[in-house]
Amino acid sequence: MKLMVIGGGGREHAIIRKLKENPQIDTIYALPGNGGIAQDAVCVDIRATDLDAITAFAEKERIDYAVVAPDDPLVLGLVDILEEKGIPCFGPAKNAAIIEGSKVFSKNLMKKYGIPTAAYETFDDTEKALAYVETAPLPTVIKADGLALGKGVVIAQTREEARNAVIEIMRNHKFGRSGEQIVIEEYLTGPEVSVLSFTDGNTIVPMVSSMDHKRAGDGDSGLNTGGMGTVAPNPYYTEEIAERCIKEIFLPTIRAMKREGRPFKGCLYFGLMLTEQGPKVIEYNCRFGDPETQVVLPLLESDLFTVMKAVTEGKLSGTQVRFRNACACCVIMASKGYPEKYEKGFEISLPEDLKKDVYVAGAVLKDGKLVTSGGRVLGVTAVENDLHSAVRSAYTKAERIGFANAYYRKDIGARALQAEEA
Ligand code: AMP
Ligand code: GLY
Repeated sequence: MKLMVIGGGGREHAIIRKLKENPQIDTIYALPGNGGIAQDAVCVDIRATDLDAITAFAEKERIDYAVVAPDDPLVLGLVDILEEKGIPCFGPAKNAAIIEGSKVFSKNLMKKYGIPTAAYETFDDTEKALAYVETAPLPTVIKADGLALGKGVVIAQTREEARNAVIEIMRNHKFGRSGEQIVIEEYLTGPEVSVLSFTDGNTIVPMVSSMDHKRAGDGDSGLNTGGMGTVAPNPYYTEEIAERCIKEIFLPTIRAMKREGRPFKGCLYFGLMLTEQGPKVIEYNCRFGDPETQVVLPLLESDLFTVMKAVTEGKLSGTQVRFRNACACCVIMASKGYPEKYEKGFEISLPEDLKKDVYVAGAVLKDGKLVTSGGRVLGVTAVENDLHSAVRSAYTKAERIGFANAYYRKDIGARALQAEEA
C-alpha cells in the first residue's frame, strides 16, 4: 500500500515511524516532510497548504490512504477534497475541523451542550470588546477566533494589556482574518492536561494522557512556544478524573458534533485544565498535538494504521487500542533564540544508535548531512517503566546530540515528578 502523510514536523515523524510498523505499507510519502523524515519516508516538496498540488500528487501516485496531520490543511478542507477523489483519509472533514478553526464556534458548542469550559463573551466589534475589558475580571484571557500558530492567546493581567490585545488583534489585524472575531474568557487555574483521542464520530477512545511544556524557559518562564517537551502519562490525570472527562467532556463533545451535522473523525485533542470545580476545556484541536504525539505514539501498543483505518471506516468500536503500561518523556532541542530570532544551518551530530529515538522537526539534508533549519530542531524521546527513568534517559540521550546554538529546557517532567511524589 502507498500512504501519504501531510506535514513536516516532529509530530509527522512520530506518526510515520509508527505507521511503518505495519508490513502492509510499502511506501510512505511525506509532503513536505523534512531532512530527518527523509530517513523513514519519501519526502515530496509540496507544502501542506497547497491543496491542489497535494491532490494532483495523490491522484498521480494512486495513494491508497492519506493522513492529514496539521491544522491548516484540515481547516481548509483537504480531507473533503481527497475523499471526493476516492482517497480515504485520517482526519476530520472541514465542517468538523472548525472545532479548532474557530474558537467562537467551539465556545458556543460547549455552551449549547453544557460542556464545562471558561465563561466567555464573543465580539466582532472592536468598540464593544474595548468597553467589555474595562469591567472584565482580571486577569482576563483574549483569544483570536481563528488559527494563529498557537500565538493567538493573550493572558492580560491589567486593563492596559487587555486593551492592547484587543487593538492588536482586532484593529491592527495581528493574526489577519483570524482576529476578525475574538473570545474574551474567564481566567482558569489548575494543572493542564492534554488528552488526544481517536474517534470515528460515534465511538471515542482516549489515548494515554500527556503534559506539554509550552514556555521557552525553565520553570515555565519566557515566551510561549510550540512546545518544549512532553511527558506521558500525566500524573495529574487520575483514573477518577479520566472517568469524569469521558462522561462530562469527551462523549458530550462527539455527540454534540454529530448532532450539529458535523461528525468528527480523526484525532480530537482535548486541552484540559483541572480546576477546583472539575475538569474544563481550554481548547480543542482537530489533530494530533505536537510534541504530545512524540510521547503518546511510542506508548501505543496497537498497530496505528489499523486504528486509523477503523476511524476512517467508522469501525472503532470493534477495534482494540492498547497502550503500554510505561512512561515516556520527550525533550525538544531547539535553536537558541527560539521562538524569536535564531540562526540555522548548523550540522547536527546524531549518534547512529539514537536515530530511532529522535523525531526531527526542523532540519534539512545538505550534502547528505542533517543541518538545522528551524526553531524547534528535534525531539528526543525515551520510554521507560517509570517517569523518573524516562526523564533521566531522555536527558542522557539529549546530551549525546549536538549542534551549534542548541538549547533545551532542563526541567521537562520536573512538575510531573513532583505531582507523582505528592
Ligand atoms: P492555547 O493556544 O489555546 O493552547 O492557549 C495557550 C495557553 O494559554 C494554554 O495552554 C493555557 O496555559 C493558557 N490559557 C488559555 N486559556 C486560558 C484560560 N481561560 N485560563 C487560563 N489559562 C488559559
Ligand atoms: N502542543 C500543543 C498543540 O499541539 O497545539
